[in-house]
Amino acid sequence: MADKLSVCREGLPIYDIVLENSFAGLEKEVDKLSLKDRKICIVTDSNVAGLYLEEVKERLESCCRQISVFVFPAGEENKNLDTVRRLYEHLILEQFDRKDMLAALGGGVVGDLCGFGAATYLRGIDFFQIPTTLLAQVDSSIGGKTGVDFDAYKNMVGAFHMPKLVYTNLETLKTLTEEQFSSGMGEVIKHGLIKNKAYYQWLKDNRKGILNRNLDLCRKMVYESNLIKKQVVEKDPTEQGERALLNFGHTLGHAVEKSMDFSMLHGHCVGLGAIAAAYISKIRGMLSQKEWDDIRDTFKSFNLPVHVDGLAWEEIFQAAKRDKKMDAGIVKFILLESTGNAYVDKTVKEEEMQAGFACIGGSKE
Ligand SMILES: NC(=O)c1ccc[n+]([C@@H]2O[C@H](COP(=O)([O-])OP(=O)(O)OC[C@H]3O[C@@H](n4cnc5c(N)ncnc54)[C@H](O)[C@@H]3O)[C@@H](O)[C@H]2O)c1
Ligand SMILES: [Zn+2]
Repeated sequence: MADKLSVCREGLPIYDIVLENSFAGLEKEVDKLSLKDRKICIVTDSNVAGLYLEEVKERLESCCRQISVFVFPAGEENKNLDTVRRLYEHLILEQFDRKDMLAALGGGVVGDLCGFGAATYLRGIDFFQIPTTLLAQVDSSIGGKTGVDFDAYKNMVGAFHMPKLVYTNLETLKTLTEEQFSSGMGEVIKHGLIKNKAYYQWLKDNRKGILNRNLDLCRKMVYESNLIKKQVVEKDPTEQGERALLNFGHTLGHAVEKSMDFSMLHGHCVGLGAIAAAYISKIRGMLSQKEWDDIRDTFKSFNLPVHVDGLAWEEIFQAAKRDKKMDAGIVKFILLESTGNAYVDKTVKEEEMQAGFACIGGSKE
């Protein structure tokens, strides 16, 4: 039995998120998109292609008139306009028109790139997501943010473009490396911290099973995270307000990510940024020492780093100020009023950020 959520706009469903333990329900869901006399192009990366492409292709074949495949080399360094250009070329050669469809099979890199290709090819064609990393299943496949990196600037070029379906096969979590799994956990723990204390507690109570990738527990976890993300993006689809809460841990997290030249995984940097932001909340008296210790220990217990060496404050501060989360020159910081309850704060001072940074190992200068 599938678990299902519908993401709505103005009360009307715009796409379903379907959770299954296999790909067996894929045809049934894709058939609802009425593609029988249309083409589908599966966009995936070189790692995922070796694992899941054959089965997904076989299943999608029965849903459409013609299927094609675009595979690009795995890695963030390929989430760029050169790869998008090759995707456009492929679609033109295969004579894709506006009613044909793209399918993103992979992690956040594939989803972002395929979504951006779909948003811009012929002024926009439809696409759906088949996320295969934990990070993509709980976060990047939902909400319609798409984009690519431009030179050294991450996600600098992009568009909002909603998928027509998100189909998650939880079994794909089993082939992820421990590092990739814990990166996804960075976003999962964030969801609990910003919106739902009971969920945060549940994660801690079920840590062993989750780390063993017990499918029932992973399914409940992905469902709860999807529910939180769905509710936030429904209220604020284009990040005018509420959606900013999802950036908890991202202001300093992105700065760390950039200073490390993207050698650390995104979710790990988010975890570090979350610990630092929680520390600022502690300085302000909103969290106790015990609560802050608990937050740091929770990230650690899910195999996320809680400390990073060799980063200088000045570089981090400059990067944080340049971050897209700035609003008219003011850093929009997300703090915790309490565990499970985040808010946007525009009054965070440099000294406070620096203190938060110091608690994850940053130097004072
Ligand atoms: N659009 C959004 O809202 C949003 C949100 C968060 C992150 N992102 C973006 O997502 C990207 C990161 O996503 P990611 O962490 O999924 O990285 P990723 O897509 O690079 O995947 C990580 C690695 O795992 C491999 N992989 C994927 N699925 C696998 C599986 N089931 N088994 C084994 N290996 C597998 C990939 O080939 C890759 O090598 C970043 O580019 C980030 O900017 C976007
Ligand atoms: Zn993130």
